[in-house]
Amino acid sequence: MSEKNLASLNDLASMAKRRGFLFQSSEIYGGLGGCWDYGPLGIELKNNVKERWWKSMTYRSDIEGIDASILMNATVWEASGHVENFFDPMVDCKKCKSRFRADKVDLTAACPVCGTKGEFTEARNFNLMFKTQVGAVEDSSAVVYLRPETAQGIFVNFLNVQGTMRQKLPFGIAQIGKAFRNEITPGNFIFRLREFEQMEMQYFVAPGTQLTHFEAWKELRMKWHLENGIRKEKLRYLVHEKLAHYADHAVDIEYEFPGGWEEMEGIHSRTDFDLRRHQEYSKKNLQYVDQSDGNKKFIPYVVETSAGCDRSVLAVMCDAYRVEFPGDPLQERVVMRFHKKIAPIKMAVLPLMKKPELEAVADKIYQEIQKSVKSEYDTSGSIGKRYRRQDEIGTPYCATIDYDSLTDHKITIRDRDSMKQERVAIDQIDNFLKDNL
Ligand code: GAP
Repeated sequence: MSEKNLASLNDLASMAKRRGFLFQSSEIYGGLGGCWDYGPLGIELKNNVKERWWKSMTYRSDIEGIDASILMNATVWEASGHVENFFDPMVDCKKCKSRFRADKVDLTAACPVCGTKGEFTEARNFNLMFKTQVGAVEDSSAVVYLRPETAQGIFVNFLNVQGTMRQKLPFGIAQIGKAFRNEITPGNFIFRLREFEQMEMQYFVAPGTQLTHFEAWKELRMKWHLENGIRKEKLRYLVHEKLAHYADHAVDIEYEFPGGWEEMEGIHSRTDFDLRRHQEYSKKNLQYVDQSDGNKKFIPYVVETSAGCDRSVLAVMCDAYRVEFPGDPLQERVVMRFHKKIAPIKMAVLPLMKKPELEAVADKIYQEIQKSVKSEYDTSGSIGKRYRRQDEIGTPYCATIDYDSLTDHKITIRDRDSMKQERVAIDQIDNFLKDNL
């Protein structure tokens, strides 16, 4: 059987819309650039990815979870360096006024939109933070920012978490939450968004031990992406040659999207930069007292793992997408080969025909399995069409109820990948799901 990978993000985006994974934000008004809404299947998929991350990070004794607010005291962003440094260089085409990131467009070449040659404005710096205000008074003291990363909510809570949870170094704090960046050129479906979710973990370590932890986290994070079902040959590390001024090691985990290799997650050894700056700006002592070493006081170093949730979702969707030709051209099928753990729907319940006696049994099965796994009930169209629909949304198992089911109390379970079918006793479906998911 031959198969093809996803050819372009456009193919994925149209399937995602048709099948209820993702919709353009406020689509009926023409949308809003860089913002997308997760539909019923998309949110299941995204929640499954987030749950895997959350469990892998916080179901261990040395990492605590938090959920910090999106709006924070504006001084946080001065301390973090975002007010001063979080810029992208921007140029405009003088002819058509299209806007580009100066570092992403060849300034000596033609405008990618209108084709005019070399007619770009001088590069200007553009701060990516969204500004808004709190309270009724419109003055500078009321300015706040939508956080451009979740990390700072963790740094400012370092002592709260360490103290209340009686953690000793090394330990981490994990968080999943929205972040906002006013990207100059959002796009590539959900790759570059203005509103997105991050899954970040800051691991606080003793100075001098950061490289060991950095190497360990590098391995663990790659393993996590592999366990999402992504093929090994589609993942790689990219070591940063040029480091940010606060970092002493940095590596990206990249995925080979249809348009090429791109960053999915960054693992950064950030030294004591963030806590030191927060100590300086807040005038609060953020030192750690090491009771195991004569009450020595120091500011911990930090190794961070920073994954984009939407990028992980995009990568698992790209990786799962296959067009298969199982021999007969009429049988061409699109199948999302999601890992069973993250597939949005685990089982579809399909009465062979729309007949009350079959539907009665099918509905009972559906009500029962829905208690433990997300499932779908579908009666419309031929059974072949219903299988294809489930293949396209990546449902691992389809359970068909036919007339034999009424007498032998068995159903046919079809496997998404092998398309093999087996008869399973109705009272064994629960066990089947437990064994196979
Ligand atoms: N705290 C470190 C930090 O935020 P980053 O490399 O700027 O580092 C981390 O972002 C991850 O967040 C990226 O690897 C990417 O997956 C995701 N991300 C960043 N900007 C994004 C955007 N505009 N749209 C979607 N995801 C984004």
